[in-house]
Amino acid sequence: MIVVFGSLNADFVFPVAALPREGETVACEAVLLMPGGKGANQAVAAARAGAEVRMAGCVGGDSFGDLLVGSLEEAGVGLGALERVAAPTGCAAVVVDAEGRNQIVVAGGANLEAKASQIEDGDLGPATTVLVQCEVRPGENRELARRARAAGARVLFNAAPAGSLDPDMLRSVDCLLVNEIEASVVAKAAGLDASGPIEEARALAGAFAMGCVVTMGGGGAYASLPGGQRPGGEWQVDALPVEPVDTTGAGDAFVGVFAASLDAGLDVAEALHRASVAGSLACLTEGAQPSLPSAADIDQRLAGLAPVRRL
Ligand code: RIB
Repeated sequence: MIVVFGSLNADFVFPVAALPREGETVACEAVLLMPGGKGANQAVAAARAGAEVRMAGCVGGDSFGDLLVGSLEEAGVGLGALERVAAPTGCAAVVVDAEGRNQIVVAGGANLEAKASQIEDGDLGPATTVLVQCEVRPGENRELARRARAAGARVLFNAAPAGSLDPDMLRSVDCLLVNEIEASVVAKAAGLDASGPIEEARALAGAFAMGCVVTMGGGGAYASLPGGQRPGGEWQVDALPVEPVDTTGAGDAFVGVFAASLDAGLDVAEALHRASVAGSLACLTEGAQPSLPSAADIDQRLAGLAPVRRL
């Protein structure tokens, strides 16, 4: 089972011709309202990939909360640890340009009230994969990771969006997942002498004795795994060649499907292969949750992506 602890946001998506520069106002025809938030996106991605998923977090009592609850219910995500609070549901302004690139601003709202204590000890054990990101309070993530580790659960940490480094958090993590920007922020904050995403991921994995996966957009992904993990070593996978419509949620698709694959007992190479296909497919549809592929979608495109290479 996968327990996702994280954010749920109502995404206001503004499709524009070009992203605004500093001080610039740009216009678009209409705004689209879609379910999002890194936590909820990853929960939906894992559920669509076939995993049993429970989501812990907070939404407000408003209609945005209804939208997010509805989307998770439709995906079959368990909501026993989701709470409705007085604060407004988290919101994100997602500006997307004609090439699918985005700029995102998030107002945390109810997400900042999410507590690790919403997850019962009975839900943490050797058969659990815990998945966290950085849109809830860091202290709550740290507390959950500590409890999960002590209970023998697998802990996956998507350090997105990347901010200040929490070494205690990283010491409780089995695998860190970051994109290129986040890899650089976390490696710098850790004082590591590394440059470029692969070197940074390798250095982070070594410094904190954990696995580290870095996603590189159209360049695929790289993983460095400590010797104790089976199979350890270094791995690289390509991305599917796609014409992106909207890259929002692509990272969440990768992380959710990676978690679902490990939770199903696949090895890291198979998990990277499925996750990379999922991340690529998520670029083909507007919005975060509407773009997340099903297990059948992933199966259908798997043979079109070269197998994962051991470095
Ligand atoms: O990763 C994409 C997500 O980031 C969006 O859905 C938005 O809500 C922000 O959390």
